[in-house]
Amino acid sequence: MLFSKRNPQLLGMLSALTFGVHTGHAIQLDLTDTNSIKSAASTVAANMMSYYKGNLTGMPVGLLPDPYYWWEAGAMFDQMIHYWFYTGDTTYNDVTTQALLAQVGPENDFMPPNQTKTEGNDDQAFWAFAAMSAAELNFPDPPPKSPSWLGLAQAVFNLQVSRWDTQNCGGGLRWQIFTFNNGYDYKNSISNGGFFQLAARLARYTGNDTYAQWAEKSYDWITSTPLFTNKYVIYDGGRVGNNCSTADPLQWTYNIGTFLMGAANMYNYTNGNQTWRTRVEGLLNGSQVFFPADHGGNIMVEIACEPQLTCNNDQPSFKAYLSRWMAATTQIAPFTVNFIQPKLHASAQGAAGQCSGGASGNICGRTWYKNTWDGKTGVGEEMSALSVIQANLISKVPGPVSANNGGTSKGNPAAGGGGDNPVKYNDPSANKRITIGDKAGAGILTALVLGSLVGGVWWISFV
Ligand SMILES: *[C@@H]1O[C@H](CO)[C@@H](O)[C@H](O)[C@H]1NC(C)=O
Ligand SMILES: *[C@@H]1O[C@H](CO)[C@@H](O)[C@H](O)[C@H]1NC(C)=O
Ligand SMILES: *[C@@H]1O[C@H](CO)[C@@H](O)[C@H](O)[C@H]1NC(C)=O
Ligand SMILES: *[C@@H]1O[C@H](CO)[C@@H](O)[C@H](O)[C@H]1NC(C)=O
Ligand SMILES: *[C@@H]1O[C@H](CO)[C@@H](O)[C@H](O)[C@H]1NC(C)=O
Ligand SMILES: *[C@@H]1O[C@H](CO)[C@@H](O)[C@H](O)[C@H]1NC(C)=O
Ligand SMILES: *[C@@H]1O[C@H](CO)[C@@H](O)[C@H](O)[C@H]1NC(C)=O
Repeated sequence: MLFSKRNPQLLGMLSALTFGVHTGHAIQLDLTDTNSIKSAASTVAANMMSYYKGNLTGMPVGLLPDPYYWWEAGAMFDQMIHYWFYTGDTTYNDVTTQALLAQVGPENDFMPPNQTKTEGNDDQAFWAFAAMSAAELNFPDPPPKSPSWLGLAQAVFNLQVSRWDTQNCGGGLRWQIFTFNNGYDYKNSISNGGFFQLAARLARYTGNDTYAQWAEKSYDWITSTPLFTNKYVIYDGGRVGNNCSTADPLQWTYNIGTFLMGAANMYNYTNGNQTWRTRVEGLLNGSQVFFPADHGGNIMVEIACEPQLTCNNDQPSFKAYLSRWMAATTQIAPFTVNFIQPKLHASAQGAAGQCSGGASGNICGRTWYKNTWDGKTGVGEEMSALSVIQANLISKVPGPVSANNGGTSKGNPAAGGGGDNPVKYNDPSANKRITIGDKAGAGILTALVLGSLVGGVWWISFV
C-alpha cells in the first residue's frame, strides 16, 4: 500500500477520487428517535475507533498513530466513555480501560515516560478529564491494584497545583511543564481552563471545598488578564515576557467549552449560587460567536480555522469538547437547556449530513453547515460528529454521580505527589538543558515541540 494510514487526509482525497464523492448515503439521523441516534453514534464510533491500533499485537496501547498526538487519544477515550454511557454499548469498554491505564505513568498521574518530554498541562488535563468522566458516569472501575479513576484525576490536580506560578502574570499555569520546551513562556487558556474545570468537577464530585477554592482562584486569575474579557471572549493565551499584558487573539470552541463546564460544575457545587449562574450565562453568550447567524445561529463552526481551511490535525476535534461540555451543562445547570438544546440539535443534524464520505459512504467531514461531505477525514472529524450526535441523548440519561450519591470510584486526595523532576521520568533529554550553542539539539526539540502543540498557536513560538 503506497499510502499508509499516517496521512488520513491524503487517504480521504484518494478515496474521494477513486470512489467519487458519495452524497446519497449520509448517516440517517432522526433526533426524535433514540434508536436512530444510537445507531448513528455506533457507526461513527466504529469509524473513529478504526484509527486506533493500540489493541493490535505489538502496537503501543493508548496511542493513536501519527499524525495524532498523545493528548487526542486521551480525549478520544473520554468520548468512548461517554459513548458507552449514552448508548449502553460495551463493545469498547475493555479497550478504553486498557488505554487509560497504559498511559498513567509510574506515579499514576498521566506523566508517562514516553510523553513527558513534550507534555503540556493541557495535554495532561485531557487524560485527567477522561478519568474524571469515568468516575462521574460510573464507568466500570479498573481492576483491583490499578489506580482509581478518581485518584488519577486527583493526582493531576495535585501536580498542577504545584505548578501554579505567581512569579509571572500574577498567577496561572504555564502551557509547557518543563523549561526546555518552547511554550514554557506561554500561559494559555486551555491549560488554565483545563485546571479550572478539573478543580470544579472534583469539587462537585467529592464535596471537598479545597478544589472549589482552586477553581475560584484560577477563574479569578484568568478573568483579571486580557486572555478572558468581561464580554466573555476567551483568547488563546499570553506571554510571560510581557507579563500577559496582551493576548494572542484566536478564539477556539474548546476554550469557551472548558470554562462553561467548570462554571456549570461550580454553579451546581454551590447549589445555585447567583455569581456562578451569571458566569454560566455569560459564557453561553460568549459561545454564540461559534454559532454564526449566517448559518442559522445554531450550527457550531470552528471559526478560527474551518472557513479558512487552515485547521491543523488537532483542531477538527475541538467541537467534540464544546458539544460534550454543553450537553453536561444542561444536566448540572438545567436553566441552560433552552439555550443549548437547539444548538446540539441543529449541529448534530449538520454533522450527520457531513457523514457521507469515503468508500463506505459514511465517513464524517467537518463543515457542519454544508450538506454534502467536504472531503475532510480524521479522528477529530469523527470525534466531533460522535460527540454532538450522542449529546442529543442527554435528556435520556441520569446526571453525574458523586462520592456520596452513587459514585463507586474511591479517591485519594494525596494521589500522585511525584512532583516534576524530569530526570525521574528517564527522559534522555531531561538531563540536558538546551543551550544557544546546541543548535542541532534545539532543532530536534523544536520539531518535537511542534509535534506536541494544541490549539494551532505553533506559529507564535517561532515568528
Ligand atoms: C480492536 O478493536 C477493534 C474495534 O475498535 C475491533 O474491531 C478489533 O477486533 C480489535 N482487535 C483486537 C485484536 O482486539
Ligand atoms: C513507549 O515507547 C516504546 C518505544 O517506542 C514502546 O515500545 C512502548 O510501548 C511505549 N509505551 C507506552 C506506554 O506508550
Ligand atoms: C504582572 O502582572 C501582575 C498581575 O496583573 C501584577 O500584579 C504584577 O505587578 C505585574 N508585574 C510586573 C513586573 O509588571
Ligand atoms: C456566590 O459565589 C461568589 C463567588 O464565589 C461569592 O463571592 C458569593 O459570596 C457567593 N454567594 C453566596 C450567596 O454564597
Ligand atoms: C447575555 O446576553 C443577554 C442578551 O444579550 C443579556 O441580556 C445578558 O445580560 C447577558 N448576560 C451576561 C451575563 O453577559
Ligand atoms: C445539580 O445537578 C443535578 C443533576 O446532577 C440537578 O438535578 C440539580 O438540579 C443541579 N442543581 C442545581 C442548583 O441546578
Ligand atoms: C480535600 O482536598 C485537599 C486537597 O487535595 C486535601 O489536602 C484534603 O485532605 C482533602 N480533604 C478531605 C476531607 O478529603
